[in-house]
Amino acid sequence: MHFDIFTLFPEMFVGPFDDSIIARARQAGIVSISLHNIRDYAEGKHRITDDYPYGGGGGMVMKPEPIFRAVETVLGLEPRRADADLPPPSTPIILLSPQGRTFNQSVALELAAHPRLALICGRYEGVDERVRAHLCTDEISIGDYVLSGGEIAAMVIVDAVTRLLPGALGQEHAADQDSHATGLLEYPQYTRPADFRGWRVPEVLLSGHHERVARWRRQQSLLRTWQRRPDMLETAWLTKEDLEFLATLTADR
Ligand code: ADE
Repeated sequence: MHFDIFTLFPEMFVGPFDDSIIARARQAGIVSISLHNIRDYAEGKHRITDDYPYGGGGGMVMKPEPIFRAVETVLGLEPRRADADLPPPSTPIILLSPQGRTFNQSVALELAAHPRLALICGRYEGVDERVRAHLCTDEISIGDYVLSGGEIAAMVIVDAVTRLLPGALGQEHAADQDSHATGLLEYPQYTRPADFRGWRVPEVLLSGHHERVARWRRQQSLLRTWQRRPDMLETAWLTKEDLEFLATLTADR
C-alpha cells in the first residue's frame, strides 16, 4: 500500500510515522508513505496557497491551483478541466474534512483493498469547492468535531488502514480480534500478576480450559457492547448462543 499525503505541514507527520507499527510496516515494505508539500506546487515568489473567500466573510480558503497541480503531478494525471471529459482516476483521492462520510472500521477495510491512496489535508477555514467537486473522489471525516486541519485525520486513516494489511501486526490476523473488527467491543485483557493489590484476575483465565476461556471472552465482549455501544449489536454477527446470552442480560435488567 502506498499513501500520498498532500499537506501544508509535512513536519507534523514526522513523529507518528516513525514509531511502532507504522515504522515497522514501512521497514518491512508493507506500506510506503510520501509526504507532498502543497506549497511546493504553488506559483510566484511567495508561493501563496490561500486567499480571501469570494463573497466576503472571515478566514482564508485554500486555493485550487496548487492542490490540483500537486495531485495531478504526483499521480501522473492529465490536468482536469471543465471542458475535458477525463476518465476517473484509478487511485482514490480523498479530501479530509468534517463534511465527509464518517470513518469507521468498515471504511478502513474498504480503503485497505486499494494499492494506493491519496489523502488531501484541508486547512484554514476551507478548501475551494472545485477541489471537492472536480479533483477528489471521496471525502472523509474522522468524527463529528472540528480539527485545525486534515493532518491528524490523515494519520488516523494511515494507522487504521496499515493495521489491516497482511503482516503489519507481528502476529498474523491479530487485527481480527480488535474492538470493532468483530463488530463487538473487545473483552477485558489481563496479564501478570494474578493478584495486583488485591484485585484478582478472573479465575476462568487461570483455568487453562480453552473452551471456557473462549466462552467467557465472547460473553464479556457481548456484555461490554450491550452496556456501552448497544447500537453495534444491531449490525454484529451474532450466533444463537450469543442471542441467548443477551436475552439473559435483558431479563436481569
Ligand atoms: N478536518 C477538520 N476536522 C476534520 C475531521 N473531523 N475529520 C477529517 N478532517 C478534518
